[in-house]
Amino acid sequence: MSQGICQISFVLLCKIKVSLSPLCSQGLFGVPELSGPAGFQMAQHQALREAEFLVHKACTHPPGAVTVETFDQLSDSLCRVADLADFIKVAHPDAAFREAAERTCVEIGTLVEILNTNVDLCQSLKNLLGNEAVLATLDSDTRRVAELFMFDFEISGIHLDESKRSKAVALNVKLLDLYHEFLSGSQLPNAIDKQVLPEHIRHCFSIDGNRVQIGGLHADSPNELVREAAYKIFLYPNTSLLLCLDELLACRHELATLVGYESFAHRALKGTMAKTPGKIIRATSRDFKMMKEMKKKAHTTNPEVMPWDHAYLSSAIRTEMFNIDPSVYSPYFSLGACMEGLNRLFMQLLGVYFQAEQPKMGELWSEDVRKLAVVHETEGLLGYIYCDFFRRPDKPHQDCHFTIRGGRLREDGVYQLPVVVLMLSLPPPSGRTPSLLTPSMVENLFHEIGHAMHSMLGRTHYQHVTGTRCSTDFAEVPSILMEYFASDYRVLSQFAQHYQTGEPLPENLVSRLCESKRVCSAADTQLQIFYAALDQVYHGKPQYRSTTDILREVQEKFYGLPYVHDTAWQLRFSHLVGYGAKYYSYLMSRAIASMVWRQCFLQDPFSRVMGERYRREMLAHGGSKEPVLMVQGMLQKTPTIEDFVDALVLDLNANVKSPAL
Ligand SMILES: *[C@@H]1O[C@H](CO)[C@@H](O)[C@H](O)[C@H]1NC(C)=O
Ligand SMILES: [Zn+2]
Repeated sequence: MSQGICQISFVLLCKIKVSLSPLCSQGLFGVPELSGPAGFQMAQHQALREAEFLVHKACTHPPGAVTVETFDQLSDSLCRVADLADFIKVAHPDAAFREAAERTCVEIGTLVEILNTNVDLCQSLKNLLGNEAVLATLDSDTRRVAELFMFDFEISGIHLDESKRSKAVALNVKLLDLYHEFLSGSQLPNAIDKQVLPEHIRHCFSIDGNRVQIGGLHADSPNELVREAAYKIFLYPNTSLLLCLDELLACRHELATLVGYESFAHRALKGTMAKTPGKIIRATSRDFKMMKEMKKKAHTTNPEVMPWDHAYLSSAIRTEMFNIDPSVYSPYFSLGACMEGLNRLFMQLLGVYFQAEQPKMGELWSEDVRKLAVVHETEGLLGYIYCDFFRRPDKPHQDCHFTIRGGRLREDGVYQLPVVVLMLSLPPPSGRTPSLLTPSMVENLFHEIGHAMHSMLGRTHYQHVTGTRCSTDFAEVPSILMEYFASDYRVLSQFAQHYQTGEPLPENLVSRLCESKRVCSAADTQLQIFYAALDQVYHGKPQYRSTTDILREVQEKFYGLPYVHDTAWQLRFSHLVGYGAKYYSYLMSRAIASMVWRQCFLQDPFSRVMGERYRREMLAHGGSKEPVLMVQGMLQKTPTIEDFVDALVLDLNANVKSPAL
């Protein structure tokens, strides 16, 4: 989640025409320069030249819509190289490409930092935002985008006097170091003398001479002692990392107040989730009771449910109640069937379908990537999705959506089509067996396609706010909404059939799967609320007490399982860096998706009327409209905080009877 001018992505626009010529050698994503690693340098230089020209244009033109247009072009010319490089640096099988891309990311990142503190550039925007007469002539999207660009400047402290500005720059630089230190420290294992551990559990950990290395919580281990030992050792506080976190939070606070905010958390919807009163807590205490029963049956020494039991016990309960074996499901979910199912669903909802596209030579980074054109039945081509779905050695094991090029209305009136990559880790087909997906892979596929369709159906004027470049609390709404479709039998039965026999997926398998997902989900939600609340408190007003004391208090208030002496879970909370003061967004998105599903699609998951409304009111706007306005448009009413909480609670309770253990 980068900040500043480069929020998002693209391909060299001016070269695309050339790339259609059969004589031209092809490069990645059809960018001719990128036929070899050295091409990144060229693409980068070209972007820098364009940037120079556009900065000059922005600074010399009288304020008006053209100012915002120029800013967006500037952002586009940098992002289309930086975002492409951002993807290539993680996904290309050839190290030379990855390294070249990495260098380009750094170069452009540095330039963006410089631009964010360019006083003349900022002044051109200020002249616009300070001129009521000109402002009145702008449409609301243009004004919002101008404000978003201004915001990027403000957080760099550009409006401050010279000495404060250099202070802000220094704080930002220091923060980068602290982020790096905290992130790497949060992943480091803790080591302990091997004598300290009972002999019979030592083999569960990696032993290094006389020391045992513990690099994770071993939360799934059926051995309670292993879980307890891992919890206490892995979360044992590291003094230098505690200091690092203190400093990080203090720096963020100082920076926020320096640039004029009350606290770092000023932007966050403070407290929405922390206001979740009795309702979720009640559902959670039911889950904890179930866990306790389960624990009793295991004849353990400690009958209390401890924090290290949560994950293990909920999965044990799930197994006992439902015994979901993924291999029973996967023959019904061949990748081909799933894609066909998505295709039908989008056709029904939106009149949109996928069309396999023949890639040109050199356009792909790996042979197993597929290129899909996304086409509307009357409007024609909407954009492209590159599907990088299969596991490969060296490919990161992470499901992810990358914007390569954002949609925007170009100066010549042509709409620049969005281009994205979906990266998954599916098993490749082997011999005559197609790629078969487990239920959780199907859910992930639907989730990521939800992000891609957000990009494809966005029709924002500016690429700065295209598709997923929206406010953090809305970003996961389209993807989580797709998870509801992925758990609905009416949707699944349209496509899920045994790849050998053609037999349809039995309905009881789907209902069991859905019920199993709800088991202990209240406790999981409660844990998320605790994390979100902790993130808010850390980024609120300074507390003048240790982060561990704060954790203990917030944990007791919002979670329910006891704090364990001499542990500091916050030092493993790496999301504090990327999601600082925004960790609540995930729950927020989940609540919105739940409301949209229930009120608009539950009755008929294929409703074209609702599909069109969803496109018009939500997907089309990217980040150019406030999330709350999009939600209002979709639900045709204004949800209250109570509605948000209820939406989460409804998901926890639906259909779950008191389980017979
Ligand atoms: C604490 O963390 C730092 C890195 O953040 C590491 O260098 C040091 O070895 C750690 N100390 C202990 C006792 O694990
Ligand atoms: Zn997502």
